[in-house]
Amino acid sequence: MSKIRTVGVCGAGLMGNGIAQTAASAGFDVVLMEVADAPLQRGLASIAKSLDKFVEKGKLPQNERDAIVGRIKGTTAIADLKHCDLVIEAIVENPEAKKSLFKQLDELLAPHAIICTNTSSFCVIELAATTKRPNRVAGLHFFNPVPIMKLVEVVRTIATTQDTIDELYAFAKTLGKEPILAQDTPGFVVNRLLIPYLLYAIRCYEGGLASKEDIDKGMKLGCGYPMGPLELLDFVGLDTTYYIAQIMFEEFKDPMMAAPPLLKRMVLAGRHGRKSGKGFYDYE
Ligand code: 3HC
Repeated sequence: MSKIRTVGVCGAGLMGNGIAQTAASAGFDVVLMEVADAPLQRGLASIAKSLDKFVEKGKLPQNERDAIVGRIKGTTAIADLKHCDLVIEAIVENPEAKKSLFKQLDELLAPHAIICTNTSSFCVIELAATTKRPNRVAGLHFFNPVPIMKLVEVVRTIATTQDTIDELYAFAKTLGKEPILAQDTPGFVVNRLLIPYLLYAIRCYEGGLASKEDIDKGMKLGCGYPMGPLELLDFVGLDTTYYIAQIMFEEFKDPMMAAPPLLKRMVLAGRHGRKSGKGFYDYE
């Protein structure tokens, strides 16, 4: 039986607002924290837009949509997370910012509370080590778009205890997700396999194997993938992929994980994919 009642989410960006929406939709009270009001309001607006999509399709009654929105309390004060039983960190992939947040959360939260990170690549034990409760720290990695994608990776560090893992499994299932257990190595299960595939697709495109449209069409129609690799890169974000690849390469020194020159140059040019209006494709 899960003891989790109130869920805190730090960061109202793409992943954070999706996690907050999913937790509130499953009946949890949610405190969504951001550093400033503008990104907080953007996150709340994004939740409203996503829920409205479900209402429009007849998948969610209007009164339930309103109840979900009512369960999410937005804040810019970390003290409002005090009574959370579980806090999920989904802030920028900046190690120092994450470590500082974990330290503050550890001081603020009750001893039973679990602190998780939604990082896709950062070493979870390094965050756990900033707290006095490394047994209650784990990774909880969601996938984009969070309200739709079924998987959650539960990441066990060398210090995470089984009771913490059991509670996170129960939590993930209450969200309607399917958990899998992964060890604390960069990329966990999905990105360990996905990132080399995406990087190789860039190398193929860079080398002139085929047009970007044909590379994507090939993988969609030939393998039944919902998106082709270059389309998926634009969706995930080229900057995010570049960052994950660098961390994975640093850890494994595997050439498959080395960022291709074109990826680096696109990131330097500000072509980060859908969110910047331009990536492999144009979204303007
Ligand atoms: N909120 C609510 N509904 C949403 C939504 C959102 N944020 N995003 C999509 N949807 C709904 C649509 O309304 C639609 O609903 P319907 O089936 O009832 O009509 C359904 O999802 C499908 O959406 P679309 O018709 O617009 O488009 P698609 O059929 O192409 O589906 C997709 C969109 C679900 C994103 C699909 O293309 C897909 O599964 N793509 C692959 C996504 C993927 O691989 N994600 C993982 C990325 S890796 C990652 O996140 C890890 C990180 O660490 C890098």
